[in-house]
Amino acid sequence: MSERIFIGVAWPYANGPLHLGHIAGAYLPADIFARYHRLKGNKVLMVSGSDQHGAPITIRAEQESTTPQEIVDKYHQQFVDCWEKLGISFDLFTTTGTPNHTQVTHDIFLTLLNRGYIYKDKMLQAFCPKCQRFLPDRYIEGTCPHCGFTQARGDECDECGKPLNPGELKDIRCRLCSTTPRFESSEHFFLRLSSFQDKLTDWIKEQTHWRRNVISTTWKFLNEGLKDRAITRDLDWGVTVPQPGFEQKRIYVWFEAVIGYLSASKEWAKLQGDDTTWQAFWQDDAKSFYFIGKDNIFFHTLVWPTMLMGYGSLNLPYDVPANEFLTIEGRKLSTSRGWAIWLHDYLERYEPDPLRYALAVNMPETGDSDFSWREFLRRNNNELVATYGNLAHRVLTFAYRNFDGAVPAPGELNERSRSLLHEAEVALDAVDKLLYRCEFKRAVKEAMTLAQEANRYLDEQAPWKTIKTERETSAKSVYAVLSVLTALKTVFYPFLPFSSEKLHSFLGFDGNVKEQGWKIQFLPPGQKIRQPQPLFVKLDEDIVAEETSRLGSLKENQEI
Ligand code: MF3
Ligand code: ZN
Repeated sequence: MSERIFIGVAWPYANGPLHLGHIAGAYLPADIFARYHRLKGNKVLMVSGSDQHGAPITIRAEQESTTPQEIVDKYHQQFVDCWEKLGISFDLFTTTGTPNHTQVTHDIFLTLLNRGYIYKDKMLQAFCPKCQRFLPDRYIEGTCPHCGFTQARGDECDECGKPLNPGELKDIRCRLCSTTPRFESSEHFFLRLSSFQDKLTDWIKEQTHWRRNVISTTWKFLNEGLKDRAITRDLDWGVTVPQPGFEQKRIYVWFEAVIGYLSASKEWAKLQGDDTTWQAFWQDDAKSFYFIGKDNIFFHTLVWPTMLMGYGSLNLPYDVPANEFLTIEGRKLSTSRGWAIWLHDYLERYEPDPLRYALAVNMPETGDSDFSWREFLRRNNNELVATYGNLAHRVLTFAYRNFDGAVPAPGELNERSRSLLHEAEVALDAVDKLLYRCEFKRAVKEAMTLAQEANRYLDEQAPWKTIKTERETSAKSVYAVLSVLTALKTVFYPFLPFSSEKLHSFLGFDGNVKEQGWKIQFLPPGQKIRQPQPLFVKLDEDIVAEETSRLGSLKENQEI
């Protein structure tokens, strides 16, 4: 029976370009999962959008002496181009700047307010007398009480990684002008997280299928005891607060960004021409998956579920397969130091599938993992080119030349061929089960193992030798490998969509891979093969030195 799968992917701040950490962390696993489910015949809704509010955006606008809107428009367009080129197949990638998003945010805010889950209170906020403005936490700098680092930010210390409140910093300064801010009392709304402690605890206990790191991070917060959190700020950039007296304030970016999952689903439904179709993905048997980096766990396993519980009638997350971090050449990724590989930059010089492969096969699923250009080159040349690509190319060109450009009639298959086809069935099943459980790394390795097996078979059968004396034996082995290629284009499709479509076409199929379902296809003898081209290109050794030397040179001042 077909399932309904909602896939929410973390909303990237539209304040700078995407890098490989973002891709390995959330976008690639989400896309693999979406493609897998679509190929299985399930109904998928995958949404996200630009997170266009919050200090990251206003800080960037100030640095570039422009408006937040201009920053947002520029990067939003860049994101959309990148998804297209990398094959990240969103059903909708919108922004938090739409009237629809404001409306859905107001609805949730007011519903929670009416039910008493949101309340008004006073809080102290840093105010810079020179800049004449309230300072968001990230605009504040001082000495970390834990490690003594003198440039700790108001929300966290970059040195020791501890989360901070501006009030805890010693020697506190405004990051814009270095003046010492004073604390002033200001009215705000608070989300009553504390009253959900027990309900959340019971719910989390049931989530035994979640990744261990996600469960343990969530427990850490629960064990510390949940505190109510301010969900409005003294700002002028963001979603307005639908309450009199709050005209000068805005809703806190995290409170409204997570609502984006719902508002985007509603926007998608409207674009489909039916306002109600989103409901099928948010109610009843539908399952919702949230793909995020580990730094966003708190907001997705505790804050968003609180909001959903308070609002009622919508599904809580079924799974939150958060990934760990990606390091680059053994070092922590840092956008301010330029120690990052930018996606748009990569896509200008290379094909999308090799990157998707290199990141999937080494995905930071259960611990941090490293990306290096040497390893990228090795994976491309030894695995994509020499194993998978070579298998496809050898057998396709051979069939093309020796069997009149068509699938040969195999007659009755011998035992060795049948056992190869059996291995293909087993691999289809194994990859299926792994992907269902979001075990991407193991799944892609399983797929590559099938390609290795088929190569071994081909070497051993050597149809290029038997063709001269036993044409029928040659035909059997060619037929068996062509059939395995139909399984390979299937199991690799979630990871390598572009090459799978190519292979699909070389094998003589029309339409696209998705229409064929998750199965091995027994090719009709006589089906015309299209003139094959290599699926992947070998990369030159020199790129390792070239690319490594670019690291650290392209700086992006994301943090002030
Ligand atoms: N913009 C946030 C970040 O980049 C992620 C927001 S995810 C959301 O860390 F769900 F809250 F939107
Ligand atoms: Zn100042």
